[in-house]
Amino acid sequence: MGTIVVVGAQWGDEGKGKVVDLLASEADVVVRFHGGNNAGHTLMVGSELTVLHLVPSGVLHAGKVCVIAGGTVVDPEVLIEEIESLRKRGFLSDPSSLKISEQAHLIMPYHKAIDLAREKRRGSGKIGTTGRGIGPAYEDKVARTGIRFVDLIDETLFRAKLERNLREKNLYLRCVLEEKEMSGEEILSRYLRFRDLLGQYVTDTALYLHRAIGEGKRVLFEGAQGMMLDVDHGTYPFVTSSNTVAGGVCAGAGISPRMVDEVIGICKAYTTRVGSGPFPTELDNELGERLREEGREFGSTTGRPRRCGWFDAVVVRQAARLNGLTGLAITKLDVLSGIDPIRVCRAYRYDGAEFAHVPANERVMAAVEPVFEDLPGWKEPLGDLRRLEELPAAARRYIHRLEELTGTRVCMISVGAGREQTIRL
Ligand code: GDP
Ligand code: IMO
Ligand code: MG
Repeated sequence: MGTIVVVGAQWGDEGKGKVVDLLASEADVVVRFHGGNNAGHTLMVGSELTVLHLVPSGVLHAGKVCVIAGGTVVDPEVLIEEIESLRKRGFLSDPSSLKISEQAHLIMPYHKAIDLAREKRRGSGKIGTTGRGIGPAYEDKVARTGIRFVDLIDETLFRAKLERNLREKNLYLRCVLEEKEMSGEEILSRYLRFRDLLGQYVTDTALYLHRAIGEGKRVLFEGAQGMMLDVDHGTYPFVTSSNTVAGGVCAGAGISPRMVDEVIGICKAYTTRVGSGPFPTELDNELGERLREEGREFGSTTGRPRRCGWFDAVVVRQAARLNGLTGLAITKLDVLSGIDPIRVCRAYRYDGAEFAHVPANERVMAAVEPVFEDLPGWKEPLGDLRRLEELPAAARRYIHRLEELTGTRVCMISVGAGREQTIRL
């Protein structure tokens, strides 16, 4: 294994946590390079369930280094809680096994307040964000008013930046959003406490990664969200505020494109989405309800029910192109047992024309009709199968058809949440 990037190929929650946990056994370093605690990555090892929001999904393996790189936005309070709960279970006992970039931006209390207040005011036009302050934190980063870990460590800088920002944010909160103002003193004392707890992990992670890759260490980059939530390539404006595509790893982790060897896309054997926005293959009926129940499709971050629908090959083919996927991992194949026929969307139709890419116009994307083909289903449960040959013929045919439609080789099939419930090809 060289350097591998793992990304979501749909609208998030594809099972990245499970796949990264599995691949981490063969890696030395696991890196989050964008996003924040909007992510919820679920790992099931034995009967123990772990949900991670910020710490990379390699943490359950001894001897790995976990890196939270500069492209992320970090809520220090959530990170401290996550570290403490992992430490109680015996993980991260060596502080050098976690590294936080000095360039990573801090999510501040006003970011969360602004995120929530804007969503409330948007009413039915809301984006359906996770309410974690992600968008407002990235806005400040791009507006060059963000506060980074390196600023938090320099108390003089931190005080000055907080004071300057709070003057503007309080005005915005009070006069535009009609919300309560925030106290600078309170934020200052809380964040200085966070600095005392997290300061030991803060370092130049780009330099660390450069050296690690140079020494031949195997580095795994863990994407969050999915291609369709990418701020440039997703269903804008119903997207998150970072680049979720594999290209984001270079800016987000500070490595050269020449350092990436493989890109694995994760997708479910069907499709889900949390939050608002277009979803052409959505099943707003009993079958959608069945997928939600059988697949336990409830958000790992917010607990919201996920919207469910058929596999959309237009989406995954676009993800293959934008990410340069070298392999596809298909998760949750077990959830489709007992559904017959199984439909797959191979193209969209709009205004009498058929096409096979995701349109940028949001009105068009909201109105496209999926062009389906039907494939035979199977009845057998799949959770105990570990080899491709053991899969029912119809399941193998389904996988093969997804390979054809997406133009990507399948390298892994997941048949259950457990680490071992995996077929590697
Ligand atoms: P992530 O955000 O991409 O890491 O995905 P989430 O963890 O938010 O959601 C995926 C959910 O599916 C989690 O509850 C996993 O435990 C579960 N899961 C992953 N792979 C499989 C699988 O092959 N079959 C089933 N039934 N569940 C799976
Ligand atoms: P993982 O890493 C699924 C969605 C939200 C909303 C939109 C914007 O677990 O796959 P944000 O809070 O980022 O401003 O919300 O993006 N979203 C996710 N959906 N999985 C995620 O992460 C998500 N992170 C954000 O529901 O529609
Ligand atoms: Mg998730």
